[in-house]
Amino acid sequence: MQYDVVIIGSGPGGYVSAIRCAQLGLKTAVIEKYKTFGGTCLNVGCIPSKALLDSSEHYHNAAHTFTTHGIELKDLSVNMPQMIARKDDVVAQNTAGITYLFKKNKIDSFEGLGSFVDKNTIRITKTDGTAETITAKNVVIASGSKPTALPFLPIDKKRIITSTEALNIKEVPKTMIVIGGGVIGLELGSVYARLGTKVSVVEYLPSIIATMDAGLGKELQRVLKKSLGMEFFMGHKVTGATAKDEKVTVSALNAKGEEVNLEANYCIVAVGRTAYTEGLGLENIGIKTEERGNKIPVNAHLETAVQGVYAIGDVITGAMLAHKAEDEGVFVAETIAGQKPHINYNLIPGVVYTWPEVASVGYTEEQLKEKGVKYKAGSFPFKASGRAKASMDTDGFVKVLADESTDEILGVHMIGPRAADMIAEAVVAMEFRASAEDIARICHAHPTYTEAIKEAAMAATANRAIHI
Ligand code: FAD
Ligand code: NAI
Repeated sequence: MQYDVVIIGSGPGGYVSAIRCAQLGLKTAVIEKYKTFGGTCLNVGCIPSKALLDSSEHYHNAAHTFTTHGIELKDLSVNMPQMIARKDDVVAQNTAGITYLFKKNKIDSFEGLGSFVDKNTIRITKTDGTAETITAKNVVIASGSKPTALPFLPIDKKRIITSTEALNIKEVPKTMIVIGGGVIGLELGSVYARLGTKVSVVEYLPSIIATMDAGLGKELQRVLKKSLGMEFFMGHKVTGATAKDEKVTVSALNAKGEEVNLEANYCIVAVGRTAYTEGLGLENIGIKTEERGNKIPVNAHLETAVQGVYAIGDVITGAMLAHKAEDEGVFVAETIAGQKPHINYNLIPGVVYTWPEVASVGYTEEQLKEKGVKYKAGSFPFKASGRAKASMDTDGFVKVLADESTDEILGVHMIGPRAADMIAEAVVAMEFRASAEDIARICHAHPTYTEAIKEAAMAATANRAIHI
């Protein structure tokens, strides 16, 4: 079978690229080694984690805020098998959606491990060991990533687990240690802390979500401690972990170099993800991955060193985010079709789905200082928002950073209710190179959380916020 494009991997990078290729009239096939489409994101990532975050948030609110709202509940309890079953159903609905979209767009799909025989020939090896080959004018590698393993800390998948197993624990553990105060650790840590687990986060750096604007991590840590009782061991370098029966012991060195031992029923290792290239046969076409993170090097067109072979998503440089992978999927499809697409990597938003949610786009204050850019900052706290008071979501703030002389918005950073959805306004504004005054003069519906963005923009524009 001869295709215009063969895509290896059906995650958000691969499946979106396939659909765009098909829309552009290219004969397209996708190879996926697992039974279901959708990759990490749909099967063991974004979607199942958000399903559990939603369920656990309902429980937490029922247990802690309903009485204040005047709602009395008796005999509240968690039915963990049902919570997991609902999550599985949400995943199934989403993965089935990809099957439907492939059919609708006349995309062929192959189940098996795809590996390069040469740059135009791909062998597909099925689980029963049989194989077939297909050929393509262009190949897109969208093989994604897997959890980074620490060499001194073996994952047993029972008590010492990754995010994948953490999405399937069928009980509410009494205690849990999360190694890594990054996105996965805080999201999955929140799920269990909301259900009543005592969660301890052990983080090597002095701050959680350290790549985001520093103010966000500080506020998030304060709120998670206050509202969920999460405990933080900052500046602790984990050195090992052992599991025995129902207990895990994690050892770490604190900032003073002293050994600290922590015990819990489970330990989630969430110290980042590594590009996944195993079995692709990259050596057969002369592609070498980078030493750090195993990433496949690409040029500005996302083409590898081999002409006609492209790579997208988690397997290449940049943020490991589903929407980044999707945009790259479209970018590559349009490039192959002869168009001249563009991605603004500075405007890929980052979101942490804790409560309060954290969302960010553009430059952080730290980056602007490092670059020597003169900027103005305007902030607005949710405790001054009428909408936030009504919903009792008064933690957090919005911060707008604008160029000191031109007033162009350079970064927007927020922690608060529905920040994940609100960040879209900032992305649109920045994509159109809006000034802080533009946002300040745009009418925002009252009462909404979005008014906090307007107020922060007003604060950045000549310090003229109304409600603070
Ligand atoms: P993947 O989604 O990893 O897909 C790669 C696919 O390729 C897999 O299905 C794999 O089986 C297949 N494959 C690999 N090699 C081969 C081969 N040789 N032959 C055939 N098939 C192969 N991102 C967000 O933006 N928002 C979130 O809320 C979010 N939450 C997350 C929560 C968790 C717990 C995790 C782990 C990740 C989360 N992410 C989130 C990150 C997101 O899942 C990834 O950035 C995204 O899935 C990357 O897409 P991709 O297409 O590059 O790769
Ligand atoms: P991460 O890079 O966000 O965080 C890992 C943390 O572990 C870092 O803070 C790091 O300092 C710490 N760490 C590393 N080694 C350590 C050690 N030995 N001891 C203690 N701490 C240590 O990685 P994470 O959370 O695993 O997520 C992986 C990727 O998945 C992220 O890059 C993210 O983009 C993606 N993701 C995105 C989500 C979203 O968009 N909402 C949700 C979940 C994952």
